[in-house]
Amino acid sequence: MGSKDSSSSERGSRSPGSQTGTTGVVLQGSSGRSKSSDQSVTKVTILGAGGGIGQPLAMLLMLHNDLIQHVAMHDLIDSIEGIGMDVSHIDRRCKITTHLGPEGLPEAVKGAKVIIIPAGLAQKPGMTRDDLFASNAKIVYNIMKVCVHTEPNAMLAIITNPVNSLVPVACEVYYHHLSHESSLRNNPDTKHEETADENQTDGTGARSAGGANPVSPDQPGSPAKHSEHSPAICGPKSICSAAPQKPKFHNSFRRIFGVTTLDVVRASTLTARSALFKSEPNGMFKDPSTIKVPVVGGHAGRTIIPLLTQATPRLDRKKLLEDKATRTTLIESIQQAGIEVLNAKKGRGSATIAMAYSACRFTLSLLRAINGEPNIVECAYVHQPTPMFGDLHYFATPLLLGKEGFTKSLGIPGQPTEGSSNKQQSQNPDGLLPYEQAMLEEGAKELRLSVARGEDFVKERLSSER
Ligand SMILES: NC(=O)c1ccc[n+]([C@@H]2O[C@H](COP(=O)([O-])OP(=O)(O)OC[C@H]3O[C@@H](n4cnc5c(N)ncnc54)[C@H](O)[C@@H]3O)[C@@H](O)[C@H]2O)c1
Repeated sequence: MGSKDSSSSERGSRSPGSQTGTTGVVLQGSSGRSKSSDQSVTKVTILGAGGGIGQPLAMLLMLHNDLIQHVAMHDLIDSIEGIGMDVSHIDRRCKITTHLGPEGLPEAVKGAKVIIIPAGLAQKPGMTRDDLFASNAKIVYNIMKVCVHTEPNAMLAIITNPVNSLVPVACEVYYHHLSHESSLRNNPDTKHEETADENQTDGTGARSAGGANPVSPDQPGSPAKHSEHSPAICGPKSICSAAPQKPKFHNSFRRIFGVTTLDVVRASTLTARSALFKSEPNGMFKDPSTIKVPVVGGHAGRTIIPLLTQATPRLDRKKLLEDKATRTTLIESIQQAGIEVLNAKKGRGSATIAMAYSACRFTLSLLRAINGEPNIVECAYVHQPTPMFGDLHYFATPLLLGKEGFTKSLGIPGQPTEGSSNKQQSQNPDGLLPYEQAMLEEGAKELRLSVARGEDFVKERLSSER
C-alpha cells in the first residue's frame, strides 16, 4: 500500500540554499534513496512539476506504473516537496522523488528515460505564445545544458512555449555540446553521429547556424581560412570554411520533441463535435477517440495545421471542399482552443488538464517504443532529417517512434509526390485539398521566423559565454 511505503520516506535537503547540497527527497516506494541508475526501474522526470501542468501530469504518470516506476518532480518552488508528498499518497507502487532548485536538477534528470519539460511562464490573457520567448528561452537553455551533460540519451518532451522556437534552442544546445565534446575526445564513433538511414539529409555537410562544426576550420591540421572552396586544396567540405555549409542532422535530434499532442487531441474532440457529424439521438457526440486527425506544422496559431482530409476514418471530402464555413470554423476552433481556455480561465492559468493528459499520452508512447513495441506513431514538432518547403528544418509531422527516438519522419500525410501536376493532385481522392496546401505554405513562413529566433538566441548565448 502506498501509505505504508510513504512511511519509509527519506528526507534529503529541503532548501535550495542547503549547505549539504543533497537534492532528492524520496517520498514513496522502495527503501530509501533513489537509485537513479537502476535499469529495472523506469524513471520519468518532470521539470516544472509544481505547476498547473506538472501536478496532474505527475498523478497521471504514477497511475501508469506498469510502464513507470519512478516519477522525479523538480521545480523552483519549495512547495514541491509537499506536492510530491500529496501525489505519493496515491495507492500505486511508484516512487516519487522531489528535487528543488538548480542544484536539484542534475539528480532529478539522472537516469531518466524521459524528461518532460513544462518549466517556465505560461500565457496570460492578451499574450501570445511568442511573448513568453524572452523568459522561457533562458530557462530551457539552462535546463538543456544540464540535461545534455547529465543524461544525454534521455528523450526530451518540451511543453514550454513557444514550442516553435524552444525546440530549436534545445537542438542547438545539444548539437553544440555533443559535437564539441566528441571533437574534444576525437573519437571516430561519436564524431560522426549523423544518421545514415532513409531520412538522412546529407552525409558530408557541417552545420551553419548556431552549431559548431564537428571539425572546426581553425583546428590544427585544417586548411587555413580562405574565401573559395577547392576540393583539391581544402579536402572534404565539412572542414572547409569557404564551402557552402549544408545543414547536418545530429542523432541527438531524434530524442528532442516539441509536444503537440494537445493539438492532436483537440482535433479529435472538436472534429467529433463539429457539423461534420450529426449528434446521436441521445444527444451525445461521436466518440472522439475513434477519430484521428494528423496535425502538422507547429504549435502556435496558424502553424497548427489539422489535415482534415487525412483523418481516419475519412471525413466527407466533398463537404470539406465545398462547405468553407464548416471547415473554417472547425480549423479555427482547433487553432484557437488554447486562447479560448486561457480567456475562459480569466487569468488563472492556461490549458493544464488536457495538456497533462496529452503529455502523459505522449510519454507512454515514447516508453512503449523504448520497450520495443512496434508501429508507435505520434505527431510532434522536431528537427526533421530532411528539410521541408526548401529550407525549413523544424516541422511537426507524424513520427515513427523507436528505442532511441524517432526512427523515421512520416512526412506530411497526403502531400503530393514529387513531379505530380496540380491536376493529378486535385484528382487524387486521398490527397490534400488546395486550402490545406495554402495553410502549409503560410505555416512554413511563420515557422522560419520562430526557428531563426531560437537559433539566434543560442548563437548569441554561446558567443557571450566564450
Ligand atoms: N505544448 C503545449 O501544448 C502547451 C499547452 C499548455 C501550456 N504550455 C506551456 O507549458 C508551460 C507551463 O505551463 P503551466 O500552466 O504548467 O505553467 P505554471 O506557471 O503553472 O507552471 C510552471 C512551473 O514551472 C516552474 N519553473 C519555472 N522555471 C523553472 C526552472 N528553471 N526549473 C524548474 N521549474 C521551473 C514554476 O515554478 C512553475 O511551477 C508554459 O510555457 C505554457 O505556455 C504548452
